[in-house]
Amino acid sequence: MSELYTSAWQESIENREAFWSRAAGAVEWSKEPSRAWDDARGWFPDGSLNTAVNAIDRHVAAGRGDAAAIIYDSPVTDTVETYSYARLADEVGRVATMLVRLGVGRGDRVILYMPMIPQTMFAMLACARLGAVHSVVFGGFAAHELAKRIDDATPRLILTASAGVEGSRKIAYKPMVDEALRTSNHQPDHVVLFQRDVLAADLIAPRDIDWAAMIEETSADPVPAPAEMAADDPLYILYTSGTTGTPKGVVRENGGHAVALTWSMANIYGVGPGDVFWAASDVGWVVGHSYIVYAPLLVGATTVLFEGKPVGTPDAGTFWRTIRRHGVKVFFTAPTAIRAIRKEDPSASFLREIGTGPLQAVFLAGERADPDTIHWLEEHSSLPVIDHWWQTELGWPGVATCHALGDTRRRAGSAGFPVPGYEFAILGDDGKELGRDQSGFVAVREPLPPGASRTLWNNKAGWEKNFAAFPGWYETGDAGYIDADGFVHIMGRTDDIINVAGHRLSTGQMEQIVAAQDGVAECAVIGADDAIKGMVPIAFVVPRAGFDADAGLPARVIAGVRGELGAVAALKTAYVVGALPKTRSGKILRNLLRKIANGEAWTCPPTIDDPAIPAAIESVIRQDSAKVA
Ligand code: COA
Ligand code: AMP
Repeated sequence: MSELYTSAWQESIENREAFWSRAAGAVEWSKEPSRAWDDARGWFPDGSLNTAVNAIDRHVAAGRGDAAAIIYDSPVTDTVETYSYARLADEVGRVATMLVRLGVGRGDRVILYMPMIPQTMFAMLACARLGAVHSVVFGGFAAHELAKRIDDATPRLILTASAGVEGSRKIAYKPMVDEALRTSNHQPDHVVLFQRDVLAADLIAPRDIDWAAMIEETSADPVPAPAEMAADDPLYILYTSGTTGTPKGVVRENGGHAVALTWSMANIYGVGPGDVFWAASDVGWVVGHSYIVYAPLLVGATTVLFEGKPVGTPDAGTFWRTIRRHGVKVFFTAPTAIRAIRKEDPSASFLREIGTGPLQAVFLAGERADPDTIHWLEEHSSLPVIDHWWQTELGWPGVATCHALGDTRRRAGSAGFPVPGYEFAILGDDGKELGRDQSGFVAVREPLPPGASRTLWNNKAGWEKNFAAFPGWYETGDAGYIDADGFVHIMGRTDDIINVAGHRLSTGQMEQIVAAQDGVAECAVIGADDAIKGMVPIAFVVPRAGFDADAGLPARVIAGVRGELGAVAALKTAYVVGALPKTRSGKILRNLLRKIANGEAWTCPPTIDDPAIPAAIESVIRQDSAKVA
């Protein structure tokens, strides 16, 4: 147990004013906040600041212009490029200038549909400088999902690139943008496209604008001054899967975000000026927003922007090589990436041969880290492998081992202890707190700490639903328990969300798409266990009476989900079945389907309507496996 951690946590709960006011001192404010919390306006209510100034300009002003800000390492394009803070200031200034010429101002939304390239970071930071609200849409989402976000965020501009590189494949982004804009109600003023050498895209004048040409054209314009933003002004919107087909636009505010991320770097990860930090995620996810872009820059560290995969780019040694090459001090990835590496290199020969250089710790998040994966990596790296838990809504970890506060306690299978700022409870159906080792709803007491969202874009009511079941508590949507020693164990979701390779997806949303396919009478999509991705979706489809189910129905269902939701959904299996198992009141028994799909032992619940159905489904799965084998 670490005294530093215990006293920090206690103070953060018992005297949050003092705790967070002190933390706010690490941020540069245009106007210092006079207090930390206000019931109506949230964190640092009368403070103002600019997040991009904190991430860039203040380091240049402090004489650290030559220090490395971003290392772009792209094995898929064979590029390694370092951007100093001074160069980053220049690049961000140029993009901000371009955005101003295109009419972007404070409060305007800008959607980014971009791959893992430095221009994506420049654009996010340029929006932050202008007080424009960026919304990055992950490249693995299809046009239909992009269109939904365009209609909700109503951006003035869309920024994109000609292509992303996924392993050895080039993914053209522009056709997705064109398709999305064909179907969206809202139309932005322009689409600004960064042409990559790997693949060129066609531009449709006058809507589409070439990024490089526009930067050139505006190069003589004055660089816009940073906007002074109130602490509760939005910095970005990031859409995440909810339980319906409509994505939830999580809104992140400037003030609390800067304070919380700055605090987390020093006290969870132990990273400060001059250190190299690498989060191997994608800027399209919250991990990417917080720990590729903002947090490392807020503390003047160096961030690695990696365009590649854990395996295949070019091999299962690429993570260790990148860590060694850049002297990474702290590394953050998803368990699925480690499982993928382990599958290719079970004896960790790359890790042994390459080593990890000055690396001090590996943090894992995005899905539950299975003990076996943690043990494997700890054994082969001799480093602490620290599982920690968080969500898009929170923006930074809520459960972790605060490594930088000297806490060394870890228990494989647990994500650690409540992070200062978070008070957890495990609640029963009746909202009463459960005892140690008892499983229930994982909840966080109000108010949520700085950095956590306080609303959804255009959907205040949707946000308030998180507090409806248990007044005074934020319901995380996760199930779990706290053990006798206080370790928090997050065991899974209480809703229809699944985590596929660390990506958060809604099976309910997939069901809506599957149900809309021609010939489908009803369906269920469940998350089945997967050795690499943690979970993968599987669809069970009942064809309409008289419909010829052999006429490519599974293939159409799979293509439908890929086409509408995107490749990231990773739905690769659809079974045609005669009927779905249901209770007598008509509720689909998804848990039973999950057990059958996992090959686990199952029994028919007493409420089942037709006890013959599960066995029939099991035999469909067996037959299919036999076919594949
Ligand atoms: N743009 C376009 N397509 C994308 C994409 C992007 N940015 N990201 C993923 N995709 C596509 C992939 O090409 C793949 O398509 P396919 O079905 O045609 O092969 C599909 O979406 C699923 O991608 P992914 O989940 O990444 O699976 P994968 O099989 O390509 O790779 C892993 C498996 C484990 C190597 C990979 O998932 C991984 O590195 N995961 C780490 C997860 C992570 O960082 N999560 C962030 C939260 S911390
Ligand atoms: P996202 O909003 O995409 O970050 O997904 C958040 C969800 O991922 C959480 O609600 C959990 O269900 C899951 N999750 C993230 N990190 C962990 C972890 N360390 N252990 C267990 N589940 C996790």
